[in-house]
Amino acid sequence: MTAEAPAGETSLPTGTAAFDAAELDATLYELLVTPEGRADPYPRYARLRELAPVFRSGMGNWVMSRYADCQQVLRVPAFGKEVGIESVARTRAQRAGWDIGEREFEALVEFLGPRQSMLTLNPPDHTRLRGLVARAFTPSTVDGLRAHVGSLCDGLLDAIAERAAGGDNVDVMAELAFPLPVAVIGELLGVPAADRHQFQGLVRATTVALEPVSTPEDLHAARAARSQMEDYFRALIDERRRRPGDDLLSELIAVRDGSDQLSEDELIATAILLFAAGFETTTNLIGNGLLALLRHPAQLCRVQDAARAGDAIALARAVEELLRWDSPVQLDVRIAFEDTEVGGVPIAAGEGVMTLLGAANRDPARFSDPDVLDVGRDEGPPLSFGAGIHFCLGAPLARMEGQVVFGRLLSRFDSLELRAADIAHRDAITLRGLVALPVGLAAG
Ligand code: HEM
Repeated sequence: MTAEAPAGETSLPTGTAAFDAAELDATLYELLVTPEGRADPYPRYARLRELAPVFRSGMGNWVMSRYADCQQVLRVPAFGKEVGIESVARTRAQRAGWDIGEREFEALVEFLGPRQSMLTLNPPDHTRLRGLVARAFTPSTVDGLRAHVGSLCDGLLDAIAERAAGGDNVDVMAELAFPLPVAVIGELLGVPAADRHQFQGLVRATTVALEPVSTPEDLHAARAARSQMEDYFRALIDERRRRPGDDLLSELIAVRDGSDQLSEDELIATAILLFAAGFETTTNLIGNGLLALLRHPAQLCRVQDAARAGDAIALARAVEELLRWDSPVQLDVRIAFEDTEVGGVPIAAGEGVMTLLGAANRDPARFSDPDVLDVGRDEGPPLSFGAGIHFCLGAPLARMEGQVVFGRLLSRFDSLELRAADIAHRDAITLRGLVALPVGLAAG
C-alpha cells in the first residue's frame, strides 16, 4: 500500500494555514496505514500536534492529539460509543475507503454484532455489565493477588535463568510477556491452563477489528477467530454450569442464571473481553517497557536499584512512565452525541472522533520534556488506560503485573542486553507491541 491519503475534505480550525491540510492527511495516513508510520508513530504525532491538534481528516473523522482534548472527549457524556451495528459498519467501510459490496458489508455486520461487550456499549447497558464484574478488579482485590502473581513470575524466571545460563538468547515476549498475563487472567476467569495458548493467535486475529483501517479479508479472518472463541466459551460455560469452580466465570454464570441481569450472549462477550483485554495489552506493557529500558541504560539502572531496594513507590512510578512512554493502546474512538466543542473547535452531532492516546502522552502542555524517558517522573497518569466511564477496568491488575515483572526480572538479573539491532513492531497502531524481544541475561 502506498502512503497516499484518500481524497476527502479536511477541515482545520480557523487560523490554520490551508496548505497544511494535505500534509495533515498524509501524516495521518502514514500513521494509521503504512508499516513505517505504525512502527514509529511519535514524530508523526508531534507533527500533527504542531500543524493542527484538532482537525477533521479526509477520512471523515476528527483527530485529537493533545492530552486535554483527548481526556475531554473520553470523559464527557457528549461523546460515546457509536450506536447501531449497521452504522458502525458503514463508518468503518467509509473510513477505509472501500467500495464495499453487500457480502463484505454483511460479514462486517456479522462480525461486529450481535454480541456486544461493555467496551462497545453506552449506558445503561454499559453500566450494568461493568457493574457485574467491577468488584473482581478493584485495587484491593488485585493487591490480594500480588504474592501469587509474584510466584507465577518466579516460575517463569527460573526457566528463563536456566536457558540464559546456557548462553541462549531469551525471547522475552514468548517466555515472559505473554505467558504471565495469560496465566493471571486465565486463572482469574477459570480458563484451564492447557487451553490458554491457542488464544494468542485468535485474539490477535480479532484485534485487527480495533484498527482504524482494516481490509475485508482481515475482517473475515477476525470473524472466524471470534466464532472460534465464542464456541470455546460456550462449551466452557456449559462445563462450569455443570461443575462450578472458584472463578469469575462461575460467578458470572450464577448471575446469569439467578437473575435477568445478563443474557447468554452478554455472558459470552464479557468472558471474551476480559480474557482478551487481560493479556494482550499487558503483554505489550512488559515488551514495550523492557525495550524502552534496554534502550535507555541509565533508566534501566534506576529501576534495577529500585527493584533491589524493594522500593514499591519507585517501581510504581517507573511502570507509569513506561506506560506513558510507549502505550500498549495508542488510540480510541468515539462519536459525538450532540453538537459540542473541543479545544475551541465545534464538532457536530454524529461526527466521529479519534483520540490519539500515544500523542496525548507526549504532549508538552501536559508532561515536561515529554520526549525524555524519566522513570522517576511524578506528573500524574498518562492516558494509556483511557478516561471516563470506559477507563480500563483492568488498570489495577495491569499496573500490579507490571510492577511485579519489572521488580522481579531486574532484581534477579544483573545484566540485560538487547540481542538484535532491529526490533520489529507488530503491524498495528491501536494495539502497539513487539513481534519478539531477544535479550541476553546474566545473573550476578
Ligand atoms: C497495560 C495494560 C492495559 C492497557 C494499556 C489497557 C488499556 C485500556 C484502554 C485504553 C481502555 C479504554 C477503551 C475505550 O475507552 O474504548 C481499556 C478498557 C478495558 N480494559 Fe484495559 N488495558 C490494559 C489491561 C487490562 C487488563 C489486565 C484487563 C483485565 C481484565 C483489562 C480490561 C479492560 C476492560 C474490561 C475494558 C473495558 C472497560 C469499559 O468499557 O468500561 N485491561 N483498557
